[in-house]
Amino acid sequence: MEHYLKPLDATQQPAWQALRAQREQMQQFNLRQAFAADPQRFRRYSLSQGGLFLDYSKNLIDERTLGLLVELAEQMKLSQAIEQLFAGAPVNASERRPALHTALRRPVGEQVLVDGVDVMPQVHRVLAQMTELVQRIHNGLWRGYTEKPITDVVNIGIGGSFLGPQLVSEALLPFAQRGVRCHYLANIDGSEFHEVTANMRAETTLFIVSSKSFATLETLKNAQAARRWVLDQGCAVADLHRHFIAVSSNRQAAVEFGIAAENIFPMWDWVGGRYSLWSAIGLPIALAIGMGNFKELLSGAYAMDQHFQSASFEQNMPVLLALLGVWYGDFWGAHSHAILPYDHHLRNFNQHLQQLDMESNGKSVRQDGSPVSCGTGPVIWGGVGCNGQHAYHQLLHQGTQLIPADFIVPVTSYNPLADHHQWLYANCLSQSQALMCGKTHAEAEAELRDQGLSEDEVQRLAPHKVIPGNRPSNTIVLERVSPRRMGALVALYEHKVFVQSVIWGNNAFDQWGVELGKELGKNLYGRLTGEDATPAADASTQGLIDFFRARHRG
Ligand code: F6P
Repeated sequence: MEHYLKPLDATQQPAWQALRAQREQMQQFNLRQAFAADPQRFRRYSLSQGGLFLDYSKNLIDERTLGLLVELAEQMKLSQAIEQLFAGAPVNASERRPALHTALRRPVGEQVLVDGVDVMPQVHRVLAQMTELVQRIHNGLWRGYTEKPITDVVNIGIGGSFLGPQLVSEALLPFAQRGVRCHYLANIDGSEFHEVTANMRAETTLFIVSSKSFATLETLKNAQAARRWVLDQGCAVADLHRHFIAVSSNRQAAVEFGIAAENIFPMWDWVGGRYSLWSAIGLPIALAIGMGNFKELLSGAYAMDQHFQSASFEQNMPVLLALLGVWYGDFWGAHSHAILPYDHHLRNFNQHLQQLDMESNGKSVRQDGSPVSCGTGPVIWGGVGCNGQHAYHQLLHQGTQLIPADFIVPVTSYNPLADHHQWLYANCLSQSQALMCGKTHAEAEAELRDQGLSEDEVQRLAPHKVIPGNRPSNTIVLERVSPRRMGALVALYEHKVFVQSVIWGNNAFDQWGVELGKELGKNLYGRLTGEDATPAADASTQGLIDFFRARHRG
């Protein structure tokens, strides 16, 4: 039976029971001692793939743990699930759809069937369409209503129609093409609209309305505001097509909105929003870095896809990251996972991963609707190093929670400045080392005595200086962030999330939980504006409505 129709219960697998016992066995496991006892530990627990080097030696694992985690993956029929994902099986069972983001990065000549139709020709047709648009804009041939070339592109989109493109275009800033600046407008908050458009002129601005559904409130309101903004500056209605293009799988809604049919780039139901940066949703990336680099990004992701499909689980980067996450979440009680890139250009990586991971695996039922019997996705959070060290790392080091972390760091900087990069890299390593080694009470005492403090002072301060250590982390090292490596890095996390969904049995590709808030938002809007006089269902919400209305009356 396909995993997405009748998922197995991981907790009922022999490996799960064995992992429980293993967790008990490892109560006294100590990373410092593990390194001291095994000079090969770093070599044993590290691997290279797609220009990424993963060191996972600073994890609370030994050979038996890894063996059992791999057994769990086998008992959950992970190989079969991976095959089905790539083959276009309807792995998104609640919506009866495949999840074929991997088709978007396949080279010409490969075939992927959806309902008996090969989708690859469409994929490559859209890439050709994107190439033409990017060239026209870069060469100054796409003209605004005053015949001036486009200088600014504003992507209007939210969620997956924003976070992935924003991340990648920022990450690849050193590859930015001259001539056109890319901006992102996501939130319905008018302040964002004003800020983004403040220094732009409509005559040289192109808006990309990026919405798979073309039904997202924030995006449609911003697109309407952009339309008014362009018209107010003197553009005739007949010339609006020079300033708006759309990317959507809902062509009709885009046409009804007023986007010229020839300016609509297709998307497909078989690509999820948070997995869509590889499609025409990635247009702002292609405009920022050029189509050649965009294709490199695709090929980097494709290399990771091939690795994911073919490597043994013991040597499979996404599988290993996923299993380690399961180990900490389900056996060590970890509730969150920190993403800590030491690269200014990757400063928003955790935002993309928040959507990718939390919208995918923030679920409480399995694919067949039965309740899960174990924990599912963790809270993903984090931010750029070194900044985090002076903010929230304190809790990582001495707080009461176990929070596994992924450090991501390039070896080389695009912007060398004196010895800054050496310090950045040293800081990254110092954090994972401190998390792992900590500081014992005896070490704290010795340190204080060395400083010449009285014994009273030593005893007073020592408990505050103890750092438990034994806190796990992965470190992903890149030579430097390039389009190919960025493609591999994002695909790595996509596959990690998928593997975890297979272990937990949930659907990684739907997001029903976000719908209720959208529906309630519509009802509340009517009450705020006074169109709907019926009271809200609860006194708190009604009180907050009254507060708003009192300020906006007359
Ligand atoms: O509300 C959640 C969501 O549906 C995400 O899954 C999606 O990425 C985002 O909204 C934007 O959706 P769309 O591209 O259809 O506007």
